[in-house]
Amino acid sequence: MNFDEYMKVILYMTTTLNGYIATATDGTPWSDESWASYAKKVQEVQNIVIGRRTYEVMKACNEFERIGHPFTVVVSSGEHEPNANCVFVHSPEEALDVLQAKGFSEVLVGGGGMLNAYFMQKGLIDEIYIDVEPLVFGKGIPLFAESDFDAHLELINTKQLSKNTVQLHYRVKKYN
Ligand SMILES: NC(=O)c1ccc[n+]([C@@H]2O[C@H](COP(=O)([O-])OP(=O)(O)OC[C@H]3O[C@@H](n4cnc5c(N)ncnc54)[C@H](OP(=O)(O)O)[C@@H]3O)[C@@H](O)[C@H]2O)c1
Repeated sequence: MNFDEYMKVILYMTTTLNGYIATATDGTPWSDESWASYAKKVQEVQNIVIGRRTYEVMKACNEFERIGHPFTVVVSSGEHEPNANCVFVHSPEEALDVLQAKGFSEVLVGGGGMLNAYFMQKGLIDEIYIDVEPLVFGKGIPLFAESDFDAHLELINTKQLSKNTVQLHYRVKKYN
């Protein structure tokens, strides 16, 4: 199915200058401005697709409350019981099927690095927002887990979120 005809798929992530989305121990010490911008985007789109590890981290930090309890699709190879406003699927494609059936016109892919890589590898991302924090980690979780793809992007916009934090907004070029 060609999802592009129906839904815009947006990857939104906050990173260090050197492209980490968390410390090696899942720490995400981002600025208030970047958290607020991310929460605003989630509230606009009203849904989020995340990997099973990100789901567990978000649940432990009560992050769903902070972002307004969007309809949540968790990708996992395992079997999990759905709960209020949250379903589990086995692939990125299945996640998009579920959201399309619910009538969403935009989808927010919200990490982590492994799920992001799967979406990119399959050519399923249309736009990318990256909030770049003034941080450099020596190790951590990368924006994209090591994977087999080379994507080309076009810069749509840049925005200064605060004195120290810049937002980059890209379109992913499609060749097919
Ligand atoms: N900076 C940010 O904006 C941001 C945003 C989100 C998350 N994070 C951070 O990212 C970290 C988690 O990232 P991560 O890369 O370790 O994990 P992740 O991508 O959140 O989750 C990985 C898990 O998702 C499932 N999965 C992913 N792709 C799949 C596919 N194609 N098919 C089936 N299952 C799939 C698998 O679950 P099963 O093992 O159950 O099969 C896999 O083990 C956390 O530290 C979190 O805080 C940061």
